Amino acid sequence: MSLHPAGSPATPELPSLRVAVLGAGTVGTEVLRLISQQGEELAHRIGGRLEITGVAVRDTERDRGEHVPAHLLTRDAESLVREADLVIEVMGGIEPARTLLLEAMAHGASVVTANKALLAQDGAALYEAADAHGVDLSFEAAVAGAIPLVRPVRESLAGDRIQRVLGIVNGTTNYILDAMTRSGASFEDALASAQELGYAEADPTADVEGHDAAAKASILASLAFHSRVRLTDVHCEGITSVSAQDISAAARMGRTIKLLSIVERIEEETGERISARVYPALIPEEHPLASVSEAYNAVFIEADAAGSLMFYGQGAGGAPTASAVLGDVVSAARTRVHGGVGPRESRYAELESIPLEELRSAFYISLTVEDRPGVLAEIAGTLSGYGISISTIHQELLEESAETGAPVRAHIGISTHRALESAMTASLDVFSSTATVLSIDSVLRIEGE
Ligand code: NAP
Ligand code: HSE
Repeated sequence: MSLHPAGSPATPELPSLRVAVLGAGTVGTEVLRLISQQGEELAHRIGGRLEITGVAVRDTERDRGEHVPAHLLTRDAESLVREADLVIEVMGGIEPARTLLLEAMAHGASVVTANKALLAQDGAALYEAADAHGVDLSFEAAVAGAIPLVRPVRESLAGDRIQRVLGIVNGTTNYILDAMTRSGASFEDALASAQELGYAEADPTADVEGHDAAAKASILASLAFHSRVRLTDVHCEGITSVSAQDISAAARMGRTIKLLSIVERIEEETGERISARVYPALIPEEHPLASVSEAYNAVFIEADAAGSLMFYGQGAGGAPTASAVLGDVVSAARTRVHGGVGPRESRYAELESIPLEELRSAFYISLTVEDRPGVLAEIAGTLSGYGISISTIHQELLEESAETGAPVRAHIGISTHRALESAMTASLDVFSSTATVLSIDSVLRIEGE
């Protein structure tokens, strides 16, 4: 049941590889289209023909277009993976994807997956299975869609020492923040549009709460620092609390808000630790990441010998992601045909993660306060008590008394110099029990300065 483009001659002398595809959604449909349209060329690049033996889906009745023939659709993913040389997993989620991939590898199949959630949560089990059964585990599409990033970090920079990876690795949230910044779109409208365009995960919570970016940060940190960095090691904050007020405050300060993934090596007197974190941050408008628009992704890598590298491109969407999947398919298929094994997990360094409270950042905080004498001094006193130095303050009147015209409530936006996270947490604890502070409206970090 191979998919040959109409009119293209078969090349009988090439061996066939049995390929099981798990999922025919946004990415899977595009993977099948590319294999169908470029079957002959891929066969020559691989030295073997990709024979699609079946496509596992939940709904086998739905028409999925000309490149996903109905006769290939099945609900029996278990049987499919047991008979495959290569399994392409684009179904997403933890189960049944995890069990199916372990089963596939136990039966000798190499695996190509786009599933960052699974890799971040249970990558260890997958790596161990790949090692135990001598098969390949590839996942270029799991981080930043079409952008070649996993291979550069895992292979091209394997001889260098990566210090830091910083970037925008979630297209949906970048699309939302960009739309909110450029056109004043509401969060809800921008999210609906990102979903229509196929950028968002099946459950957009993973995007907007930062979990998708955190999964990618865990994969990048593990590869960059030769250590097993679990999802639970990544500090994660999403964009759901970023308000229109934050966006206009950022613009007033010559900054813009981006959801950043940061993984870095931190040298200390006692040795080295690593940090992996995801949060919305203010960056200067002139920073190269500030101009990354729509669902595009961009990632900076700083390495000792290579210096600074920048990667930019489409981080989400069916066809861009399918391009990355197909790159892995060609590599893994070549290995099957010509012998050898792909790269394995490298975790010899076993670097520990540093708790967020021990890191230093510059902050922007915004508070709604009672507008009366001494309030600003009280706030500044709390911050200085914890060793936090203010860099700028902006105050705006929110309400005045109807009878006397005297100020009642004000909004205060404060930027700080770099300070310990634990010091900021302690200050915020004080503010939350200070009567004159009516609400803590936002706490954002400032990066890229
Ligand atoms: P999707 O559109 O929701 O498609 C998922 C496919 O998997 C559907 O065809 C679905 O079947 C099938 N499926 C799900 N659960 C199944 C089950 N239990 N048994 C059998 N089939 C099942 O997802 P997607 O956007 O293509 O994403 C797929 C993977 O790629 C995810 O891991 C995602 O994180 C990753 N990824 C996506 C993008 C992107 O831009 N979309 C980018 C990079 C990586 P039905 O069609 O019958 O429901
Ligand atoms: N939902 C993800 C994003 C898809 O928006 O970037 C790519 O991993």
